[in-house]
Amino acid sequence: MTLKEQCKTIEFREMGDATGKLVAIEGGQTIPFDIKRVFFIYGMSRNSIRGKHANINTDMVLICLTGSVKITVRSRQDEYCVVLDSPGKGLLIPHMLWREMSDFSAGTIILVLANTYYNPEDYITDLNYYENSTYQP
Ligand code: TYD
Repeated sequence: MTLKEQCKTIEFREMGDATGKLVAIEGGQTIPFDIKRVFFIYGMSRNSIRGKHANINTDMVLICLTGSVKITVRSRQDEYCVVLDSPGKGLLIPHMLWREMSDFSAGTIILVLANTYYNPEDYITDLNYYENSTYQP
């Protein structure tokens, strides 16, 4: 499978009317795992690079609630870039894929849904170690 196939873009159903919109997300339904953790990242400057890690066991879905961000996902063989700029879609990043977030527009807020509780031991933060590791996504 290519990285683009692994990192599916999930299109949410936008509901609402002329007064405004709403997206509802249900664990195990709208996204392909049960949600154990939600966090959001904000306050980035345009030049920030966030992420720069792979998670050993954690699958995530990233949703850009406002603003825009470039997501770069890397495996040992491949690289895939996508711009998230709409709250109407999410990007699935399965475990054991290196990810970086960059090119933030002002005021960007990214909501992240994860299938694990936070565990610092779940993180690989050394790209060289990641590229030489024998873990399989
Ligand atoms: P970090 O993983 O460095 O953020 P990013 O990948 O966006 O650059 O996390 C920043 C801090 O927040 C770090 O001290 C760990 C902590 N943290 C939690 O306590 N719980 C969490 O679920 C996450 C993702 C981070």
